[in-house]
Amino acid sequence: MEKPDVPQRSRRWTVADGPRYWWHRLPGMDFVPPIYSDLSEEEWQVIRDWYEETDESGVIGECAVPLVSLLQGLVLGNRIARIVQLGTCSGYSALLLGFMLRRMEVARGLFTVDINPELCTLTERWLARAGLTNYVTVVLGDSRDPATLATATAHFGAMPEMILLDSSHEYQATLDELALWYPALESGGLFLLHDVSLFASRFDVTREGGVQRALSEWRRKHPEAETLILNGQSRSMALPRPLYKDACGVGLIHKPGLPASP
Ligand SMILES: C[S@@+](CC[C@H](N)C(=O)[O-])C[C@H]1O[C@@H](n2cnc3c(N)ncnc32)[C@H](O)[C@@H]1O
Repeated sequence: MEKPDVPQRSRRWTVADGPRYWWHRLPGMDFVPPIYSDLSEEEWQVIRDWYEETDESGVIGECAVPLVSLLQGLVLGNRIARIVQLGTCSGYSALLLGFMLRRMEVARGLFTVDINPELCTLTERWLARAGLTNYVTVVLGDSRDPATLATATAHFGAMPEMILLDSSHEYQATLDELALWYPALESGGLFLLHDVSLFASRFDVTREGGVQRALSEWRRKHPEAETLILNGQSRSMALPRPLYKDACGVGLIHKPGLPASP
């Protein structure tokens, strides 16, 4: 039976101020999405406290419900056991992916990198609080550095099955990350890129076109890969939103082939 307070959970945010709660304020979102309703009471408490602390400190930069829901379907639906995340921030995705990995009993399943030492320390503290240190490894490093890739490969002892790119959003850096990490992805694996829309290209501080331009150029040079872009043409957060509600968009690259036999 559902715990008495489960129906409330994230529904409190349908009236919350602040840009990070945009999904909850959309028309009709007065329900608890599975990324939260699936959590145990203790896990939900961690997420609630994490929101409270990061609201207070202002360390905000996480992705939102549509992307984590997509990740949840992919990870739990396919038992994805070797995940790399480029860009950890304050640990939102790391916590939620960690809960998914714990449910599947996949130890050391997420390798998450950030260039900012304070954010790594913050995320490690929350993972410890959530009891997830056996499932998620936080690494201080630059996602463009081949040494970071070498550490990831050594961590898994195999190629990653899924890579989530959510780091600087700069055009050249994204091209560098794709050039470094795509060859290291297992055949048949998935490479996800957050912030691929025209709207999100403004996050590129170099003003060179961001992830949007990098991915369109990359896919032209890699016709062998299946690439799906959701909301690439979104220009604003205004309503009405397309079916995929995140105006920042997401790109999915499916690397051809089958994994090597064990
Ligand atoms: C949008 S946030 C990541 C949010 C995270 N994926 C989540 O949903 O919880 C981007 C993060 O990328 C980090 N970053 C930027 N450039 C980087 C680089 N070259 N290598 C590693 N991390 C980087 C930033 O410090 C920042 O914390």
